[in-house]
Order: sequence, then structure tokens, then C-alpha cells
Amino acid sequence: MTTLIQNPAPEMTREDDGFLRDMWYVTVTAKELKPGKMLQKQYLGEPVLLGRDPEGRAFALRDICPHRAVPLSKGQMWTEEDGQTSVACPYHGWRFNAHSGQCVTIPSLVEGQNFDLTTIKVRRYPVYEQDGLIWVYFPADPSDETLSMARPPRFANMVLKPGQSEGRVKYIERAQLECHQDNGVIGLLDPAHTPYVHQSPLWRSSKGLKPKEKHFAPTELGFTMLSHKPVNSPLYNIIGGSIKVEIQFILPGLRAESIRNEKHGYLGLAAVTPIHKDLSEITQIMYWDTPVLDALSLIARPFTHTFLQQDARVMRWQGEYAQYNPTLMQIPDADTLMVWYKRLKREWVRAREDQRDFDNPIKPAVLRWRT
Ligand code: FES
Ligand SMILES: [Fe+2]
Repeated sequence: MTTLIQNPAPEMTREDDGFLRDMWYVTVTAKELKPGKMLQKQYLGEPVLLGRDPEGRAFALRDICPHRAVPLSKGQMWTEEDGQTSVACPYHGWRFNAHSGQCVTIPSLVEGQNFDLTTIKVRRYPVYEQDGLIWVYFPADPSDETLSMARPPRFANMVLKPGQSEGRVKYIERAQLECHQDNGVIGLLDPAHTPYVHQSPLWRSSKGLKPKEKHFAPTELGFTMLSHKPVNSPLYNIIGGSIKVEIQFILPGLRAESIRNEKHGYLGLAAVTPIHKDLSEITQIMYWDTPVLDALSLIARPFTHTFLQQDARVMRWQGEYAQYNPTLMQIPDADTLMVWYKRLKREWVRAREDQRDFDNPIKPAVLRWRT
């Protein structure tokens, strides 16, 4: 007689980790996920196996074997007789369909041991490949198969050459932030730190701060800093022509800066994805169709690296001092974007709780600061 020992459901007791669920998150780039390969990852405090079957379809599974809790990502990808791809656990070889998580084989079973495999399933996460990125959906209720957003958010001004429907990643840089995702996102939205944290003779110094005035409008899941004529940046000079800059913020932690002239475009996307409560990952992804940037990107790599590390250093300091539960301050208007981020998050959570549509709490505004 075979007995199935019920696994405890850890998600039922999940304390509030401050992460938004029912949302798409940026994980790795499409190129980093090779056909036939699996990656062992952690996002939102959950172990995640990212994989791509030999046919090229990406998948994501909860990276714990339901039998004895070893990571499935340490196992092997397998092609079943019917051509379907499965993942074989490295411990006792149970196999799970890569896309549904359904258990398809328990090798140790013999004739007559009629064990119902349909009762065993590894949780799968919806995956969507868009603009050269692998997006993974983290549902609030793991058993709920309905998606609140059928596909990940799209950025206005994605750089697309004629005939292309997807952005092509030209550049990627990644850094670990030893802090909660909130601090990472707030750092992205914080105008006043730039002349201090990112001091560099090449682009900025803290001397000569100038007053700025920026116009903002709400968007579907965030807000946009409306197109303006920029003042001081070498990147703008390189692109040339009559430049328009627009910065978009989209929940849960996506900031995109688009720079365009009449002919060409650049879009720099920064995505902050939580790994767990005290660790986040920031991925900087760039798209462009400006030929001069192709050559420059090689030279620019060390600068982007330094830039992200400068942020990471401050956030590590912040993370270390979180243990003292400090009270934090907000001043006008340089901290307003942080306040908006918190409001957007709160509204997302409430809208899910009340089972109603998200109602963007941000109103059009003009904000001023000196940077
Ligand atoms: S632990 Fe995975 S098959 Fe036993
Ligand atoms: Fe920064």
C-alpha cells in the first residue's frame, strides 16, 4: 500500500515580505537561457528553476522536488517518448513535465503499485519572453491559474527597427543589491543622490547643482516623466539632433529611460527584482539603433559597472542599518517619487484584496529640485 505524505504548504504561512504578487518580474535575458539548459535561481524568496526546452520554449518551475525537497535544477532535462520535455530529479529520478510541472514518471514503482501520478505536481510559474527578456509571473495564490496581466508590461518607445516587433538587447549589466527591493527601487527613483553617489569627472560632480522642473503624468501601472529637452549629458550629445527624453516607471520595479531624436532611439531599462527580503538584483538592459553606440558600448562597460556598484554600495550601507529600525524622512519634491512608489504599491495590494481594478493614485504634477 502506497501512502502519500502531504507536503506542508509553505506559501500558506508566508509572512508579508513586502513584494507585490500577481505581477511579472524580469529574470534573465533570453540569451542567458540556452536551449536544453536549466538555471538555479531564487526570486521573491522562492527557489525557481528557469529552463528552456530543446525546442526553445522557456519554462519556470518551483525548484523543489515534492518527494524529498532537493533542487530539480540539479537534475537533468529529459525528452519523453511523446516528445514532451521533462525534468528528472537528481535524487530518485522522478520526472516532471517542464511546462506543467505534472509528475510523469516514478521510476521505482513496479507493476501493481497503482500510484496516482496526477496527484503530484511541481508548481509552475507562467513565463513570457518579451524584448529579449525572460519574464516570470509570481501569483499571490499559487493554485490560481488566471493571470491578472496576460503579458508583461510594455514600454512606450521600445527601440524597434523596421519589421521588428521585439526589442533586441544590446547590452546588459547586473548587480546585487544587499537590501530589500524597495530600497533598490527608491534608489532608482531618487534624483537627489546622483551628484553625490555617481560623482565622476566624466559626467557629474556635486558642484554646480541646478534647479530642475519636471512634468509627470500617471500611466497604467506607474508614471512618466514627460519628454523634455535635456541639459547636460554626454550621451545626449552623442545621439545628437533634437533630443527627447522620457522616463517611465512601472510597477513592480521597472524604470525605463528613452532618448530619441528624429532618426534613432535608445532605451535603458533598469529592473529591480527581489531575490529575498534582504537581497535584490538590478539588471540594466539597453536597446538602441544608433550605430555610434555600438562602438561606444565596449568603452562604456566599465562605467556602467561602476555606476551600478556605486548604488550597490550605498544600499549595502542602508541594508546594514535597517536592523536599527530607523525612522525615515521625506522632503519636497525630491522624495515625492518615493512617496508615489509606496502609494502605487499600496493601491496594487488593496485592489487585489478588494478584487477590483487597479486605480492609479498618481495625479499629473510638476516637481522641482536641485541636482
Ligand atoms: S527527491 Fe526528487 S525524486 Fe526523490
Ligand atoms: Fe543611482
